[in-house]
Amino acid sequence: MVTPDVQQSGPDHTAVFAAPGRWGLRVQPAGPGRAARLAVEDVALADVAAAVGTPTYVYGAGEIAARFHALARACRSHPTLIGYAVKANSSQAVLTHLARLGAGADIVSGGELRRALVAGVPADKIVFSGVGKLDAELDAAIAAGVRSINIESVEELDRVAARAHALGRVTSIALRLNPDIDPDTHPYLATGLRESKFGIAMSDAPALAARARALHDLRLVGLACHIGSQILDESPFLASFERLSGLVRALRADGAPLRQIDLGGGMGITYAPADRELDVERLGAALTAAVAPLGLELVLEPGRYLIGSAGVLLTRVVGRKRNGERDFVIVDAAMNDLLRPALYGAYHPIVPVDVAAGERPPIRADVVGPVCECGDFLAQDRILSPAEPGELLAVLGAGAYGMAMASTYNSRPLAAEVLVHGSEFAVTRARKTVDDLIADEQVPAWLAR
Ligand code: LLP
Repeated sequence: MVTPDVQQSGPDHTAVFAAPGRWGLRVQPAGPGRAARLAVEDVALADVAAAVGTPTYVYGAGEIAARFHALARACRSHPTLIGYAVKANSSQAVLTHLARLGAGADIVSGGELRRALVAGVPADKIVFSGVGKLDAELDAAIAAGVRSINIESVEELDRVAARAHALGRVTSIALRLNPDIDPDTHPYLATGLRESKFGIAMSDAPALAARARALHDLRLVGLACHIGSQILDESPFLASFERLSGLVRALRADGAPLRQIDLGGGMGITYAPADRELDVERLGAALTAAVAPLGLELVLEPGRYLIGSAGVLLTRVVGRKRNGERDFVIVDAAMNDLLRPALYGAYHPIVPVDVAAGERPPIRADVVGPVCECGDFLAQDRILSPAEPGELLAVLGAGAYGMAMASTYNSRPLAAEVLVHGSEFAVTRARKTVDDLIADEQVPAWLAR
């Protein structure tokens, strides 16, 4: 994902129009009286913009299902729970779709617990991760009977035991370990290094496990880790498995009734055309082969892999300008809609929705939004088609951590969301008005006097 050093040899739409499936898209060929258009499944993005306006996130239900099935198929040789990382995209429609496909959920808050349960994810397919779980959130998870609470510290271990005791519920836990593996990704996305805030140091794990086993309100059912995000090959996953498996054997020898090993999420997707593809079949085969001899169920927590390529951010060009040597394409989506470029220097291809626009001689420009921040850009120094005011652009690979990280900064209502299914689409989040935003607040009576 984070590929600030991407070297473009030409505009991205050349690669995207040639192989749109890599980004979860299709190109509808030109027909009588109609130009070739970019589409999600059988719905042209231009039709979505005409009906719903912009900016709008558009997700393809078929692509989500295809990704889920590809990962499930890759892991078919061994019992595996695919627990979708809700944080990547917590749209209730997306969650319901994944629940119906058979996904579990990886949650990090009481809010995500509630969303997953409402979407129909069974509690025994939910794992609760997170470095700062609140007592009220733990109580809700314990009462719901989640599959495991992934413990991140000795303090949390004792607190979960106390909450389980208070509720009179023996609660399944796993220890989230920090295997100290460098996943070769953006520094903000590497979570399994020794000095990161996440997980328990390997050296502290035996003592914590012993303590957990002495607490009668807890049942230690597994080990977990999550080493980072946007990882494109299997070796970091296998390396972390190796670190965890030694401890599995030691705990087993001690009589711990372990039943699962959770290797977290982090499977990457294609952003820039030159990105390597994750070979998911090879990853699944390697992980299941490694885990099988332990006789433990494998748990995975993919977020981005399931939803990242299944979503685009559809935006309309507001204007063009030139300052000094720099060209700007100003669009109606901004950093409040898609924060990743500003926060991580993340690269998202930006392509015209009208395929014929790709034939214009390309320009080099920044694609920026209307927000009053220098960091408000979707692309910098990008070779792309010279889009004119009123034309539509699609920002690709925006399904994960796009809407989920959106805000209403600059009093910009959140983008609308649409889920496509074949030739149909449904608005899954209607665009709000600024008056809706104001109506969510209260002015104290003493100011109205
Ligand atoms: N499990 C745990 C414990 C996690 O912390 C995460 C992500 C995942 C699973 C899912 O990771 P994924 O499969 O989606 O890579 N906002 C950043 C990504 C932050 C990821 C945080 N943890 C971005 O936009 O790239």
